Amino acid sequence: MNKITITSQFTVYSNSNELSEETQKLLEKAIEIRRKAYAPYSKFKVGAAVLLDNGEIVVGSNQENAAYPSGLCAERVAIFQAGSIYPSAKIKSIVISAASEQNTTKTPIPPCGACRQSIAEYEIRQNTNIEIYFTGEMGDIYKSDSLKNLLPLLFNKNML
Ligand code: THU
Repeated sequence: MNKITITSQFTVYSNSNELSEETQKLLEKAIEIRRKAYAPYSKFKVGAAVLLDNGEIVVGSNQENAAYPSGLCAERVAIFQAGSIYPSAKIKSIVISAASEQNTTKTPIPPCGACRQSIAEYEIRQNTNIEIYFTGEMGDIYKSDSLKNLLPLLFNKNML
């Protein structure tokens, strides 16, 4: 029997002014679209801003439904929209901002498992890393240089 250790690395920014100007702009867009999220059931609003290699920025927010599983997370709304409108563009980065209407989120809010799997599909398809930034309403901003930090041992097309 052997054990293996898989490590994940994140960069931690304690203030948004430590981010590049480009990423600060994406964060502003993620916050702006987060405020327009449709989240009447969870009261937990999420916004995502996706930067493409053609310079376009595509945003998305979570869209809930009375039949709960029919709703969709902000990250998938954004990346699926980007993939639909610009099918040949590569995703350079995704910035995610999350806030609850019931309390102040102070820890970085990472993408859920299904969103990680969906982002992985794009990273593998385009064969370049996607930078992922995520944060709460306030507090640290975490950055991962690749989706792989968030989803080690991921299931992918090579396994089919
Ligand atoms: N949510 C997202 O938009 N992204 C995530 O990665 C985590 C969860 C949304 C889904 C639902 O509308 C609300 O947050 C509470 O789970």
